[in-house]
Amino acid sequence: MEEKSVEVKSFYVTTPIYYVNDVPHIGHAYTTVAADILARFNRLMGRGVFFLTGTDEHGQKVLKAAQAAGLTPSAHTDKLCENFKKLWTRLDITNDAFIRTTHPDHISTVQDFLLQLFNKGEIVKRRYEGWYCTHDERFWTDKDIKDGICPDCGRAVEKIEEENYFFLMSKYHDRLVTHIKDNPGYIMPESRRNEVLGFLRSNALGDLCISRPAQRLSWGVPMPFDNNYVTYVWFDALINYYSATRYLSGNKKDFWPATVHIVGKDILTTHAVFWSAMLMALDIPLPKRLFAHGWWTMKGQKMSKSLGNAVDPFKIIERYGADALRYFLFREVTFGLDGDFSEEALVGRINTDLANDLGNLVSRSFAMLNKFFQGKIPTPDAAEIELKTLAEDILLSIADHLNNLAFHRALDDIWTLVTYLNKYIDTNKPWVLAKSSETEGRLRTVIYSLMEGLRFVSLYLYPFMPKSMAMLYNHLTNGDASIVTLPEVSQWGLIEKNMQIKEIEQMFPRIETEIKPPKAPQASVPPPKEEGIIDIIDIADFAKVRLKTAKIIAAEAVKGSSKLIRLTVDSGGERQVVAGIGKHYKPEELPGKTVVIVANLKPAKLMGVESQGMVLAASDAEGLTLITVDREIPPGALVK
Ligand code: ME8
Ligand code: MG
Repeated sequence: MEEKSVEVKSFYVTTPIYYVNDVPHIGHAYTTVAADILARFNRLMGRGVFFLTGTDEHGQKVLKAAQAAGLTPSAHTDKLCENFKKLWTRLDITNDAFIRTTHPDHISTVQDFLLQLFNKGEIVKRRYEGWYCTHDERFWTDKDIKDGICPDCGRAVEKIEEENYFFLMSKYHDRLVTHIKDNPGYIMPESRRNEVLGFLRSNALGDLCISRPAQRLSWGVPMPFDNNYVTYVWFDALINYYSATRYLSGNKKDFWPATVHIVGKDILTTHAVFWSAMLMALDIPLPKRLFAHGWWTMKGQKMSKSLGNAVDPFKIIERYGADALRYFLFREVTFGLDGDFSEEALVGRINTDLANDLGNLVSRSFAMLNKFFQGKIPTPDAAEIELKTLAEDILLSIADHLNNLAFHRALDDIWTLVTYLNKYIDTNKPWVLAKSSETEGRLRTVIYSLMEGLRFVSLYLYPFMPKSMAMLYNHLTNGDASIVTLPEVSQWGLIEKNMQIKEIEQMFPRIETEIKPPKAPQASVPPPKEEGIIDIIDIADFAKVRLKTAKIIAAEAVKGSSKLIRLTVDSGGERQVVAGIGKHYKPEELPGKTVVIVANLKPAKLMGVESQGMVLAASDAEGLTLITVDREIPPGALVK
């Protein structure tokens, strides 16, 4: 559900606290970089930011691992949490605090929380019978379990029969449904929100078992009202978001409620249901938003340490740099959906977006500044209104997208500026302007505007790629992108005239590798053969193909296919064409476009839907792009 950005002064973002005995992989990096991008962007907007991450250190799993390693649990966790801290340093993560659930202040906050609930009668003791999955640290009921296997991770579950404490969560069923319905932005994306509402519609909420007998499990927060029990690890873990504001990084109490908890879809229920109910029970304001993103998979399988297919982020960073990885994770896949990780795709992005589009833009601009003005920012003759407007105005849109965690859309916006600047060089041809003294003023304007445009690019991209963009920004201004604010510096014309600009090293060198770029997605046209070995045809052969312009009137995805879109087009008469472009275009962005179709192709059925013709598109490693026309032209015009 989209929401317009509201004016916020403070911004509190969290990641899950990761199980300390996990080896950090790309999946953990993903959530934490997402939070970092938001934290950096909000600081850039001049807001007070509190960015929290940390480790989840209690529970049976940690205890078992410590015992296996021959360590005390606390020595074990001290050692393991360093893996995460080290990764966050390598990834340039700017968390303001790192919470560990074994910290005494966290423990006392949890105990205080429990005591309050207990005193309010929200916790009762009952006999418990059920199943427990140690790996996922969660309880299951009889109906969830088939053949003694955890429905989530497929591992054997244990039967548990004991007296335990229960949080009376069932009471909050209706309040929770109302809250989710009344606050459309509470659970995002919308599909996940519907999932939670669907779950609550068909299941009465049970009470939550929140204790384990201490004689069976000692590694946990002791129940403050009964020392024979420790707290269920999820109950302890969820409180981290709140307890951190009470004691970490000075006093951050004013940051509660959190602006957004970012989590993976695997732990949405614990957040959307348990956590919400826990807070309601104590009348603590709920976080403003929960965003559950999708999974990174490897060849279609969820990436995880236990499946042995986890990608080591340290290795990727070493090979390609943190910025490239950060960019890739948010460019490649819509935040919220699953995505398949491959080094080929990463290299493809580096070579096309970063080396070709951005890297070239920077090196061409700096080279021309050097050549024509000896590295000194020239004084422009006139303002380039169109470019100025574009550069200034996309900020609003970027902010809106980031407010909705639509990282890929924010990057789309920034890329319109990058593309504009590249085209600006090509159309203005500074090297031609430099040939005559009559065009000297124009040359000054063009080079000035390029450098000023780059300054905007560096600021907008800084939250995504902090290292390289801080370097670029510093070259252009001598300033520090990590301390400026956009309200101060996002006006056109602030780059200093006559300033001597240092040369810059090549920003994103192309990666020549053995790894082949990903196969271009199947276009609706046969793959082009290489120039030179194309089969020669006669003009008469070509004349057999009737190409026509067609205006798209309506578009909708073909049911059951992620690739096919059914288009209703006007090509001088209405017809239906099915195009394999669903991976590259959303149906809603298509109506209004004028495309080119093969009009005399024998009709064919694609997944049961008739296609009366074929839409032309070009494809490369980056994807597929429709062939369109350069100006308005009536539908049905012949293309030849
Ligand atoms: O669940 N793709 O910790 P955890 C994308 N301690 N994200 C992934 C991922 C993947 N393949 N694998 C992991 C826990 N993640 C609890 C959380 S919070 C109060 C307690 C990310 O170590 C994603 O954010 O299993 C997921 O939700 C989280 O790591 C799970 O980390
Ligand atoms: Mg997990």
